[in-house]
Amino acid sequence: MYSLQDFGFMIGPQNEARVAAYYEAMKRVITPESVVLEIGTGVGLFAMLACQLGARHVYAIESNKMIDLAAELAEANGFGSRITFIKDLSTNVTLPEKADVMISDIRGTLPWFSNHIACIVDARKRLLRPGGVQIPGKDMVYLAAVHQPKIYDKYCAPWVDNRYGLDFSGARRRVVNQISRKRFTADDLLTSPQAVATLDYYLMTEDGMVTTITMPVTEAGVGHGFAFWFDSELAAGVSLLNAPGQRYNAMYGHPFFPWENRVSLEKGDQIVVALRAHRRPNNLYGWRWSTTVTGAEGQIKASFKQGTYFSRVEPHPAVLRDSPN
Ligand SMILES: C[S@@+](CC[C@H](N)C(=O)[O-])C[C@H]1O[C@@H](n2cnc3c(N)ncnc32)[C@H](O)[C@@H]1O
Repeated sequence: MYSLQDFGFMIGPQNEARVAAYYEAMKRVITPESVVLEIGTGVGLFAMLACQLGARHVYAIESNKMIDLAAELAEANGFGSRITFIKDLSTNVTLPEKADVMISDIRGTLPWFSNHIACIVDARKRLLRPGGVQIPGKDMVYLAAVHQPKIYDKYCAPWVDNRYGLDFSGARRRVVNQISRKRFTADDLLTSPQAVATLDYYLMTEDGMVTTITMPVTEAGVGHGFAFWFDSELAAGVSLLNAPGQRYNAMYGHPFFPWENRVSLEKGDQIVVALRAHRRPNNLYGWRWSTTVTGAEGQIKASFKQGTYFSRVEPHPAVLRDSPN
């Protein structure tokens, strides 16, 4: 559940490029006749901007209790009568009219996040008029192998060469199967960006992903894992770019998928990664990434089978679940 400070972070300086791109996209598509739907309005910024841009009416849906603040802010800005705020999940909502424009940013660091895709598909079918406009229209997801010893050491260093002679390998094994949001620069990339998937929100129905990607190493160096990111086509001609080296949006960052071990990579090596993202019933995504690195002579230099499943810690029988007395 996001806090007010979280919502401030999302629309603050660290995510300014995101907000500016959304505003530009809204400017291109909202007209005085537009009925606008926003899914996940937070504190109502995009709903109010839609009013400023002349929308006839806005339906702003949000399951978080901060929707009451959004309504207060809308009233303070003179938009109280033009925005209908609805506190619920969009999948439970019906509207008195269909929207011409649907706006959302309910992804996480990647589009495969919680029930994001299922909610967009549902709203597209039920709440948007046929031919209506969606912001975003498409997300394009990329990855590249990266060299980033600082990030990798932060993951692993606490669990290796313990100064008191303790074995923490069970912790290291878990941590290298965890994904986390980091920030990379263009200099960290050891391969060119590889396209993972394009999510076309006008058409898509699937909320999982399975693919295999082959990439040649373009820079020699020690590889530590993969950086992911997505670019977005918010509206025709309006892009939001998140690649390392572009203006950074801290809200998305660059999710890091570490490798089990460091790999010394040479130009001409080939990396093959089999990827799978699967939404579980609790709406958390399970990820798998199996990586094989082959040298120029065809020798296997590394082979890792990883996944968020392997980061799980099972209940241990030695742990008392109740107080002993
Ligand atoms: C990342 S925040 C974005 C807030 C704001 N629109 C912005 O872009 O700054 C996503 C918000 O969407 C809400 N949300 C996600 N899915 C939703 C759904 N299906 N129906 C209603 N609210 C939803 C969450 O509670 C969260 O407050």
